[in-house]
Amino acid sequence: MGNDKDLKKKKKRSRSNEKSVELVVVANEAKQIQQQQQQQEKVIANEENQKPKQQQGNPNPKKKKKSQESYPFGNYKNYYGYRISNDMDEDPRLKVLNKEWFQGKDCLDIGCNSGIMTIHIANKFGCRSILGVDIDSSRVGDAQWHLRNFVRKQNHTKAGEKKSSGSKEESISLSNGEANTGSSGETKDLFQIVSFQKENFVHTRNLDDNRYDTILCLSVTKWIHLNWGDDGLITLFSKIWRLLNPGGIFIMEPQPWKSYEKNRRVSETTAMHHRTIVLRPEHFQEILLDKIGFRTVEDLTSSLSGVSKGFDRQILAFKK
Ligand SMILES: C[S@@+](CC[C@H](N)C(=O)[O-])C[C@H]1O[C@@H](n2cnc3c(N)ncnc32)[C@H](O)[C@@H]1O
Repeated sequence: MGNDKDLKKKKKRSRSNEKSVELVVVANEAKQIQQQQQQQEKVIANEENQKPKQQQGNPNPKKKKKSQESYPFGNYKNYYGYRISNDMDEDPRLKVLNKEWFQGKDCLDIGCNSGIMTIHIANKFGCRSILGVDIDSSRVGDAQWHLRNFVRKQNHTKAGEKKSSGSKEESISLSNGEANTGSSGETKDLFQIVSFQKENFVHTRNLDDNRYDTILCLSVTKWIHLNWGDDGLITLFSKIWRLLNPGGIFIMEPQPWKSYEKNRRVSETTAMHHRTIVLRPEHFQEILLDKIGFRTVEDLTSSLSGVSKGFDRQILAFKK
């Protein structure tokens, strides 16, 4: 009897497995996504209403919060305070990224949070443009604040350097001598290169006409997966594919399945999806290569070192 039940469960699982990996599911998801989107946006709107004004766009990690805030999309405040410790000179992930994927390229960073990684990628590698999108408008506000702060500090340093070297030249651009020089050879400052926008990537049509050379999706798949299920994940992958130029690069840092467990209860939606998810992170590579159509994958994980505890995740680069 027990065996019959097990067999039925296994058959059911394997049938739904086959079904889920078919990209046909994408067509059925729109209605579901729309309903969930409305529900999730209500959660975000409520959260925003509860936030003290000064914390929108001017994060102050020193101020401790008394109330328990929930972050149903991984939209943590001060995320980089956990990821980048004081003894690190930069986010360790920057060291495994290939300059060629960014220099002079149009890039998209999905789930940019407060924009620190986006800004550092632009600054270190000299992107032609990089757009960071995030579902949470407060994180987008934080990102815009960080960009202003970063440029201000950079200008201050440069001005100091010029003063001490006696140079009268006023124009200030990117540091590290990596200023972006487009085809016309002009120099741009970070404000012209980096921008941030509030978008739910799963749902938005606002990016449909854009094309990118490189798309990043770092530590975001779990949140999209838990909030929009297997269909949402397939939508994410299909959209990324569509938005990439031929030969374009998709850089993904998926969270492992075991980490879904601790976040599954952040909302009813995530709990429900956690129970019904069939596609596991260990299948993502196969899905992206065999179903979505990426040509090659490069595993960058072995070059990654010095990450904070709990953030030793796989990083993969797919080529369209
Ligand atoms: C854990 S953070 C990762 C931040 C950054 N990518 C990194 O790794 O440094 C995940 C971010 O994804 C965002 N996010 C989750 N679902 C999203 C969606 N559907 N569209 C856009 N952003 C989303 C969250 O708001 C959050 O800021």
